[in-house]
Amino acid sequence: MTETQFTPRVFSGIQPSGNLHLGNYLGALKRFVDMQGPEWETVYCMVDLHAITTWQDPADLMHSTRELCAGFIAAGIDPEQSILFNQSQVPEHAQLAWVFNCVARMGWMQRMTQWKDKAGKNQQNASLGLFAYPSLMAADILIYHATHVPVGDDQKQHLELTRDIAIKFNNDFGVDFFPITEPVIEGAATRVMSLRDGAKKMSKSDPSDMSRINMTDDADTIAKKIRKAKTDPDALPSEADGLENRPEARNLVNIYAALSDLTVDQVLAEVGGKQFGEFKPMLAELAVEKLSPISTEMARLMGDQAEIDKILARGAERAREVTVPVLQRTYEIVGMVGAKQV
Ligand code: TYM
Repeated sequence: MTETQFTPRVFSGIQPSGNLHLGNYLGALKRFVDMQGPEWETVYCMVDLHAITTWQDPADLMHSTRELCAGFIAAGIDPEQSILFNQSQVPEHAQLAWVFNCVARMGWMQRMTQWKDKAGKNQQNASLGLFAYPSLMAADILIYHATHVPVGDDQKQHLELTRDIAIKFNNDFGVDFFPITEPVIEGAATRVMSLRDGAKKMSKSDPSDMSRINMTDDADTIAKKIRKAKTDPDALPSEADGLENRPEARNLVNIYAALSDLTVDQVLAEVGGKQFGEFKPMLAELAVEKLSPISTEMARLMGDQAEIDKILARGAERAREVTVPVLQRTYEIVGMVGAKQV
């Protein structure tokens, strides 16, 4: 078997389930923007099929998908340079996911911590889609033969599963067809925590709106949420070691570092010794400076939804130039009659 050379290609996705927040921005979206450039082909997706693994109000889902598209563009994704689209307009994702459902093992899926967390004690009542979700995620990535996937820390296990599925498919069929994708989990904010509890991840489903900064929050709301963020009584340390066992302090410093494109050490060299009374206004000012233009631009883009729909349709068309041949070849490898030679 010869080693196939895969084109360097980045794929990532975000669920359009509302409340796009600072964790999504720093852990994912901002890094998607940073990866745009001549080095990679970049493909970014609003994963609407993933969003319906738990019930979504149809009108809300449509709104959130368009709003997320506005968020991608407002944050700096150029829909000419990157391929930007919503998943359901590219049917090959779901078609490849079926093949992967037949490759992945029940035991692999049962080990997924996000499945255990989301289904909780009521697994019998969770949707089959929620259980099979990581197989669709593997298909999202591998239908593009993506080599690199930027995500936040919470997606790490799903990316390991994606690699396992690619390896098993290649072994089962004696091919070197799917790449073994590299997760890209980098930077100071791969796991942004709740502003109310440094032990909990910032999440769109947290019942407390004060726990997160939404990308649609205005300047006053952002400043208020930072002012009220939970902290401890000590001054900030001058070195990263001093953040040990101080989850809330660490979180705010990580956010500051990621927003300002500095390392944690560089931030602490600047703010070490300051009390939160002084640091929080600095952070609030920085957050407003970086996030307000994004929310203003999102609102402007949402004023022309027909244009958003056009961008998504065009993105889907470009995506299918990649996905149709990959699915056909997959079908051919698996032995489906009628799979055209490409
Ligand atoms: P989702 O929609 O929950 O989150 C989108 C991205 O945001 C990151 N993220 C965070 N990063 C740092 N701190 C946080 N508190 C935080 N919360 C969320 C996530 O890690 C993710 O990168 N399964 C995925 C969507 C998906 C996907 C894919 C991603 C579907 N197919 C293929 C990559 C490749 C999800 O539910 O992300």
